[in-house]
Amino acid sequence: MKKENLTVISQENLAPRIYRMKLKGESVRSMLTPGQFVHLKLGGRHPLLRRPISICDVEEDQLSIIYRVEGQGTSMLAEKKDGDTVDALGPLGEGFPITPSDDTALLIGGGVGIPPLYYLAKQLYDKGKRVKIILGFRRQEEMFLTEAFSRFGEVFVTTENGSCGTRGFVTDAIAKAGEFDVFYTCGPKPMLRAVEKAAGTNGYISLEERMGCGVGACLACVCDLKEAETDKSYVKACKDGPVFQAGEVVL
Ligand code: FES
Repeated sequence: MKKENLTVISQENLAPRIYRMKLKGESVRSMLTPGQFVHLKLGGRHPLLRRPISICDVEEDQLSIIYRVEGQGTSMLAEKKDGDTVDALGPLGEGFPITPSDDTALLIGGGVGIPPLYYLAKQLYDKGKRVKIILGFRRQEEMFLTEAFSRFGEVFVTTENGSCGTRGFVTDAIAKAGEFDVFYTCGPKPMLRAVEKAAGTNGYISLEERMGCGVGACLACVCDLKEAETDKSYVKACKDGPVFQAGEVVL
């Protein structure tokens, strides 16, 4: 983990309230595992507060993040211009494992849970795995990255209002995607719960947990284990996760 002022090299509005920012810095070269995150200091009334943002892609010393503007901190991030800097701590957390024995991977993402799956899809594809991707949105206008994912495998889109792809939720497309050996998912908790139920336990889920310190010190991100171990009954999403084996934590 390193702390560095990364330089903004581009900022793009992909969909309503959804932005892609590219940042450059030496510490980016160590961001090798998909599913890890950076903890960004965003300023504002609480200048010490950081926000966890997942790594969407890395190319040499350039990092891409995709985030949704939800409050004062992320609004300030959206106002950053080329050449501005962002104080970033990272890479943090445990990311997605790539298991050698699994040949076909099903990636299931919803909303801003989609970006970390992009870096994962890229690495799975580079390792010769078969990749299938289900991307869920509320409506067509909110879609992003669907074209980009199609470089790595077949993409199945769902929208809640039926304006594109299958009407409904990501779970409505699992049967359509066909067989898979392992699944990886990231999105809001109700979605993760539904995916876990529909797709079984040979998979990995990434939690979008609220965080404070991001490094295991404050307990803001604690999640209960489904089966408590003798010495512990909970895990910290920031340090033990955000990626967990399906069925490991209470959703
Ligand atoms: Fe502080 Fe996880 S955010 S312990």
